[in-house]
Amino acid sequence: MITTVTLNTAIDQLYKMDSCRTGSVNRVKSCIKTAGGKGVNVARVASLAGEKVLAAGIVGGFHGAYFRSLLAQDGIEGCFTDSGAETRCCINVRDESTGEHTEFLEPGARLTESALEDFYRAYLQCVETSDVITISGSVPAGTPAGYYGKLIAAAKSAGKRVILDTSGAALRESIAAKPTMIKPNADEIRQLTGIAAASRGELIEAAKKLHDGGIELIVISLGGDGALVVSDEGVFQGVCPKIEVVNTVGCGDSMVAGFAVGMVRNAPLEETIRFALSVASANALHEKTGCFREDDLKRLLSGTVVNRL
Ligand SMILES: Nc1ncnc2c1ncn2[C@@H]1O[C@H](COP(=O)(O)OP(=O)(O)OP(=O)(O)O)[C@@H](O)[C@H]1O
Ligand SMILES: [Mg+2]
Repeated sequence: MITTVTLNTAIDQLYKMDSCRTGSVNRVKSCIKTAGGKGVNVARVASLAGEKVLAAGIVGGFHGAYFRSLLAQDGIEGCFTDSGAETRCCINVRDESTGEHTEFLEPGARLTESALEDFYRAYLQCVETSDVITISGSVPAGTPAGYYGKLIAAAKSAGKRVILDTSGAALRESIAAKPTMIKPNADEIRQLTGIAAASRGELIEAAKKLHDGGIELIVISLGGDGALVVSDEGVFQGVCPKIEVVNTVGCGDSMVAGFAVGMVRNAPLEETIRFALSVASANALHEKTGCFREDDLKRLLSGTVVNRL
């Protein structure tokens, strides 16, 4: 089973409008609400790929109850600790005249020490029944530095594989706990290593340093240019076919889901890279974040190339 961890949950609201203008009244044509947060996207994609998934994290208040019902509508089992503070809402406005997206992200409530301790206890139980744990996204206010590190250490000492996908200080402070895999994009690895990392060679050098530090798998995602992978088995480059993008939000999360699926299936690394890239690109062809169509995935699997460098 795959357990996904999301501390920074949200109710995501997609507003579709014929056009959107600031400083005037805007009528919303349709509104789609989903249980949001990066780990929830991972859970949705891994579940669509056919794996048993448990989405874990922290929610609260009336919005927390609504979050749980939206998650259930997606057919995903949840293990969410109640923080007592309202879960935030995030609004994504799609202007159909321009195709532009404008996002409004609420800051979210500060987490208390007791909510974080409650979650940690629930998490330890989730770890017992899981093969792979994914930890995604930023940490809400109130979360102590090193909290992700604590989650990683608990999973690793139980012999479980952990994928960490975060950025900035949360990433810097957690890698000492040596997650099995990290998935920085180019900006995130530049921030983490302080290396300019403009060329492919520089990106690989930066990833090799992290690998030497004890992280088994470093996946640098490069948007439409695919990904670079540094591993015990060597260095690989994955290249995806050019596509007509619909919505790239959640592509990184879909890629994390692809790697988690490959890990629980004990698939060979090159096959896992191909699958993860394809499922991530298939997400870019779907309007809904953290979603893909089976026929898109099949087509992309046959067009995605993985080369050993
Ligand atoms: N324009 C695109 N065309 C094809 N595939 C894409 C495109 N953008 C992203 N992907 C796929 O998704 C993967 C992850 O994308 P990206 O590097 O943008 O992740 P990210 O920056 O972590 O995204 P996020 O955190 O917003 O989900 C890429 O390696 C690629 O396989
Ligand atoms: Mg990302």
